[in-house]
Amino acid sequence: MPSDLPALGATQPTAGKDEGVRAVTVTPGVANSLSLVEDHPEPDAEEGSVLVEALAVGICGTDHEIIAGDYGEAPPGADRLIIGHESLGRVIEDSSGTLQPGDLVAGIVRHPDPVPCPNCAVGEWDMCRNGQYTEHGIKALPGFARDRWRIEHQYAVKLDPALAQVGVLLEPTSVVAKAWDHIERIGHRAEWQPQTVLVTGAGPIGLLAALLGTQRGLTVHVLDRNTEGPKPELVAGLGATYHTVTVNELPFEPDVVIECTGAPSVVLDVMCKAAPNGIVCLAGVSSGGRTIDFDAGALNRALVLENNVVFGSVNANRRHWSMAAQALARADQVWLESLVTRRVPVNRYADAYTAGPDDIKVVLEFAS
Ligand code: BGC
Repeated sequence: MPSDLPALGATQPTAGKDEGVRAVTVTPGVANSLSLVEDHPEPDAEEGSVLVEALAVGICGTDHEIIAGDYGEAPPGADRLIIGHESLGRVIEDSSGTLQPGDLVAGIVRHPDPVPCPNCAVGEWDMCRNGQYTEHGIKALPGFARDRWRIEHQYAVKLDPALAQVGVLLEPTSVVAKAWDHIERIGHRAEWQPQTVLVTGAGPIGLLAALLGTQRGLTVHVLDRNTEGPKPELVAGLGATYHTVTVNELPFEPDVVIECTGAPSVVLDVMCKAAPNGIVCLAGVSSGGRTIDFDAGALNRALVLENNVVFGSVNANRRHWSMAAQALARADQVWLESLVTRRVPVNRYADAYTAGPDDIKVVLEFAS
C-alpha cells in the first residue's frame, strides 16, 4: 500500500461485515422516484472479487435522464436500480489477489453482452453490436452510489494515489479518450496534420475533451452560450480560447470538432463548419422530439466535396480507461479540482441531483 494513503482504520467497514449500505436508487421509468435506501443489502459476492469502499460518485446528464424516468433499466428481477456510474473508491479486499487493500480504483461502466457480439468478444464493449451490453448504474447492473460495491478485477481500473481528489473524473475522461482515439484513427486514413480543434459545449465532457486536445499540442477553441460563471476561466486555464458567438460566426474552420451539446442546430452547424478533410465527433446526446428545417442536400454536398467525416461516439473500453488515467495524471491537478464545483455528502443526495446554474461537475461524497 503506498505510504501516502491513509490506512483503513478501525472505523472503516471490514470485509464480510453484514450491516447494510446506504444506496441511492430509482425505479426506472418512474419520474422522480429517487430515494436513499438506508439499509440496502451489502454487495453480493457474485458481483465480483473486489470489494470497494465508495469515496465519490460523479453526476451527469444520464443520471438526470434516469431520474426523470426517461432512461435506465433495473437488474433482472429487481424493481429498483442503484444509480451512479462515475465512481471512485478504495479497495477493501480482492479475493483474486490482483488489487491491494487501499488501492484507489474506479469501476468500468459497461460489461460485454453475453452472446458475445464480435466486438464484445474482443473487449470492445463500447462498440457492442447487439445492444445486449449492461452498464453499472444505467442498464441492468447495480451502480456505484452505495457505501460499498463489488466488481470483477478486470473491470476495476487502478488510479495513481495522487488522484484521490479528482479520480472521480476518470469515467467522463474515458469517454473523451475514446472520442480522441477514434478521431485519430479516422484522421490517419490519409496524410493528417490537424491544428485547430473546436469543442462545442463547456460542460464536463467538453472541458475534458478540450484538455485532451491541449495535451496533444493542438489549438483548442471552446464554444458555449454562457458568458458568466466558471466556464470562461476554466477554458482560459487550459490555454484554450472561449467563444460565445454562433458556430457560423467563428473566424476559422476547425480540423476537428467534438460536439458535446447535443443541440440540433449546433450539431448541424458544426458539420458544415469543419475544414476540408475535417472530422466531426458527436459526443452529446440529444433528447429528441424537436424538429428543425435544414437543407440535407447542402449538408451532403459539403461533406462529400470536402471528404469530411461525422461520427458518433459513446462509452469506452478498458484501453480508453487506461488512456484516461494517464491523461488525468498528466493534467494540472488544480485545474481538474476546479471542474468539481460542488461536493455533496450522500445524506443530502437530493441537493446533489438538483442541477445548479454554475454547476460543472457535481460529486456525491461517501466516505471522507
Ligand atoms: C456514460 C456512458 C454510457 C452512456 C449510455 C453515459 O453517460 O458515460 O458510459 O455508455 O451514458 O448509457
